[in-house]
Amino acid sequence: MAGSVDEDRGTAYAQLLRGQKALVTGAHSGIGMATAIALGRAGADVVVNYVVGADEAEKVVAQIEGLGVRAYAHEADVSDEDQVVAMVARMVKEFGTIDIMVANAGLQRDAAATDMTLQQWQKVIDVNLTGQFLCAREAAKEFVRRGVVPEVSRSAGKIICMSSVHQIIPWSGHVNYASSKGGVGMLMQTLAQELAPQHIRVNAIAPGAIRTPINRDAWSTPEAEAELLKLIPYRRVGDPDDIADAVVAMASDLLDYVVGSTLFVDGGMTLFPGFATGG
Ligand code: BGC
Repeated sequence: MAGSVDEDRGTAYAQLLRGQKALVTGAHSGIGMATAIALGRAGADVVVNYVVGADEAEKVVAQIEGLGVRAYAHEADVSDEDQVVAMVARMVKEFGTIDIMVANAGLQRDAAATDMTLQQWQKVIDVNLTGQFLCAREAAKEFVRRGVVPEVSRSAGKIICMSSVHQIIPWSGHVNYASSKGGVGMLMQTLAQELAPQHIRVNAIAPGAIRTPINRDAWSTPEAEAELLKLIPYRRVGDPDDIADAVVAMASDLLDYVVGSTLFVDGGMTLFPGFATGG
């Protein structure tokens, strides 16, 4: 007898990442949380990184453990080199290795360019760009050391950078954020070029407007949501699971030949919707 859609989805998922070890930064809420849970559903053991939100992180861990895989929470600031080094070292000790690094942690500190302080600029660059570099670097070292284990995956490791539609869409009032995500695009491509010969796959997922705390103002009232939907040809605000599913696919061997790509998961936000009627 055919199972429910959810069961079928669960069964398909269980095959995809069985036995792999994943780390998700900023996994206590939003996209990171959904991604950590989805990776667990796909059979991976998961490290749930957070810097604030210890209680939420523990809840995510419990949910992942409920799926029959291992998980633990690890507090670390991704922009702090020592903390990132220690986080990956602990994972190698506890789980034996790392197969999937999801460099997801990110934040916004919005201000008009003329009002933006150096602190607002620097904080966003530190977390969104430098943080991704540090996490990718530490994961890549372990991937190179271990190499390909064919029973686990065709590749020696996967780095998935959480980017944004603002990797390519300029964004007034958010020059720090847009610059960080533009940087993530080139970070990802350069790492992909450098590491591909060692069978490491580096790619990015670029979400559009996803219903999470980072952009609550943009969707939490009907008026705001109506404005937002004008920017989304597919006419729905995304859910964290839309991104989590894309990460699982990107991390799996289904997409083994995808190297150095950005997958936009945005309901068409990058299709210049203003030109649907103008131009
Ligand atoms: C930002 C959100 C924004 C979305 C679309 C994301 O990267 O974090 O605040 O709603 O891009 O503009």
